Amino acid sequence: MQRIMAKIGIFDSGYGGLTILEAIRRELPQYDYLYLGDNARAPYGTHSFDVIYRYTLQAVKYLFSQDCALVILACNTASAKALRTIQQKDLPLLRSVSPEDGLGHTWKRSVFCQSEGRSLNVLGVIRPTVEAVPSITKTGHIGILATPATVSSESYVLELEKLSIVNCQLSITQQACPLWVPLIENGEHLNPGADYFVDLYLRQILEKDPLIDTLILGCTHYPLLLPKISQWIRNNGKRFAASDIQVISQGYLEAKSLADYLLRHPEYESQLSQGGSCHYLTTENADRFSQSASLFLSSPVQAEHIDLE
Ligand code: DGL
Repeated sequence: MQRIMAKIGIFDSGYGGLTILEAIRRELPQYDYLYLGDNARAPYGTHSFDVIYRYTLQAVKYLFSQDCALVILACNTASAKALRTIQQKDLPLLRSVSPEDGLGHTWKRSVFCQSEGRSLNVLGVIRPTVEAVPSITKTGHIGILATPATVSSESYVLELEKLSIVNCQLSITQQACPLWVPLIENGEHLNPGADYFVDLYLRQILEKDPLIDTLILGCTHYPLLLPKISQWIRNNGKRFAASDIQVISQGYLEAKSLADYLLRHPEYESQLSQGGSCHYLTTENADRFSQSASLFLSSPVQAEHIDLE
């Protein structure tokens, strides 16, 4: 049988998934990656379920059409709102589709898609994050900072409650931060004006539960605000918390989880090409993406524009 050459697709509504991509490439530099940011339609976090599901499915299909065998939803909002439906309803169909079926995209490279025995899967970011919590919290008081859509999905609460039953009782407080993603997408996140919005949501969540000792950054954009979040905690954290506040950002956890997944699923290892490359796609202007992504990644990238339908 012909050796199938497939990539790992990384999807986010915009720049946030770059924080996951970077960590994954550090952990697994040998594979080839395709990053897709739907910047033209970001933020996702204020949209309804139907819209987030439709946009995410379009992106997943597009990445499969570009020979990705695994797609990581490097977006909590998409993971919370769309992952389950895609895994249960759409993946069985996508796994059996032939290139001519035209499920919204032409399968561009027939080698991968027509080969027998190809494996396709979509993975999210919430589960790997939640699994890290018990080893971090001392008080059992957990704060979740996320987009309005992720908060309303209750995905973190549900996943953490499963742990509560198994391990320990957790007290969970959520805080929607609707203005953080727009700050980041517009490159304003390290400017002095961002301080106001960092203070706004951190103060709100810690006033709701001053015993929080573990804050989950439940949006892949938020690590880009980490310098300001850490500074705020240094300046104000002691006023609220029972002990030091640990901030969980997801890149490292997702990277470890993917490495573990690949070990447990050798069928992907044999499909994935190992050229160490990464290509970037955006639904926005390619130059604009390239410029901003280069700042976030601290090395230059050259993006290509695509349209999702
Ligand atoms: N990075 C996405 C997440 O993790 C941001 C969502 C948005 O576009 O609002 O939720």
